[in-house]
Amino acid sequence: MAQISLTVNGKTVSADVESRTLLVEMLRDKLHLTGTHVGCDTSQCGACVVQVNGMSVKACTMLAVQAEGAKVLTIEGLVNEDGSLHPMQEMFREHHALQCGYCTPGMVMSAIDLVNSHPEGLTEEQIRHGLEGNLCRCTGYHNIVKAIAAAWPIMHNKVPMAAE
Ligand code: FES
Ligand code: FES
Repeated sequence: MAQISLTVNGKTVSADVESRTLLVEMLRDKLHLTGTHVGCDTSQCGACVVQVNGMSVKACTMLAVQAEGAKVLTIEGLVNEDGSLHPMQEMFREHHALQCGYCTPGMVMSAIDLVNSHPEGLTEEQIRHGLEGNLCRCTGYHNIVKAIAAAWPIMHNKVPMAAE
């Protein structure tokens, strides 16, 4: 057992973990942050994607002890203090980019990293390529691409989020 300390969604947390414990297990089982999902055991599906120090990471493929001292952001940390959604969450809703919702937390976390790392713009091809690490069984991907394309100008302050 090792005690690790890290920042999760802005709060410092400590947990006793075995050295073999995966980050996704720590998030789900110790911290009860169950938005991050597990969809495979071969690092392919991306349902487990969270951000570690600002980069999207498959949390099933990282040990919890490797996150010692890191800043981890999960889907639960995206919502603003006033309850309003992150633009990526809002655009997924508006563009019908989810059905069962199982891939959605990982998809949203990957999409945010994709948008943040392309301040110059994102083509449809770049979005599709950027999502290759995230599988979805329901949507056929088209509406996910639309949602991410719509979130880009909002996240880069080119247009405000449309009020309903
Ligand atoms: S659970 Fe499938 S890639 Fe992590
Ligand atoms: S919405 Fe069901 S797997 Fe993507």
